[in-house]
Amino acid sequence: MQKILFISDPHICVPGQRIIGLDPSARFVQVLAAAVSAHPDAAALVLLGDLTHHGLPAEYAELARILRAAPIPIIPMIGNHDRRDAFLAQFPDAPQTPQGHIQSWRDIGDHRIITMDSLDGPPYPDRHHAGLLCADRLAFLDDALATRAGRHGVVCIHHPPFDTGVVGMDRIKLRNGAEVLDLLARHSNLHLVCGHLHQTISGNTRGVPWTVFKSPCHQGVVELVKPTSSLSTDEAGAYGLGLLAPDGLIIHSIDVGTGARVIDGYDAAK
Ligand SMILES: [Fe+2]
Repeated sequence: MQKILFISDPHICVPGQRIIGLDPSARFVQVLAAAVSAHPDAAALVLLGDLTHHGLPAEYAELARILRAAPIPIIPMIGNHDRRDAFLAQFPDAPQTPQGHIQSWRDIGDHRIITMDSLDGPPYPDRHHAGLLCADRLAFLDDALATRAGRHGVVCIHHPPFDTGVVGMDRIKLRNGAEVLDLLARHSNLHLVCGHLHQTISGNTRGVPWTVFKSPCHQGVVELVKPTSSLSTDEAGAYGLGLLAPDGLIIHSIDVGTGARVIDGYDAAK
């Protein structure tokens, strides 16, 4: 069975800069190494956006330095912390649409992996972190799903179009989420994969099944009351694993660096 890997929200900074005391590069390297060593046969690694923390050229240079050693194809996506020009300066071969959106699809076995650009801008008003799929991007997504020829759809969008109950993050989801969910619901046999929340969450909205992955770096918090989007916690980083089964998609989320042991047999744990 073929497989793909997911890493969401690495938030790479310039070397030496930390996020809530964590080194984003070190955490990304650790999670990336764990993912590719456990699954060297993965067909691709999807980076689900927020590649960098500030969208700076030096941050993309640091990301490119880390990815240079990656032994599997990388599919990079853009999030609200990214900037297309700075990204493209380091990753000029990334697929772009004629309108300049960094998005693509590729078929792997019985699955079509569709990666969308949900960055809302330019311009970028202060503190604006919500996403958008404009008319051009909706048309791209509709076409990618309509031409699958029976393949399972794996639709990757950094910003969730759905609510999660984490009220602060729900305020900066995809601005036209209802429109996107309606489009997805018109197509059957697909799974939606998102980032943005830095948490492992799954659900089903308007008949569309979805999964959100944690970050390799700082994680989100299950805050269902306070409308803040700035809460973070330093629990373990994680990567996602998608098993591309002939009859659908199986998803795992694997924490890295927890110190937890793998023990074979109850007696061996004594
Ligand atoms: Fe993020």
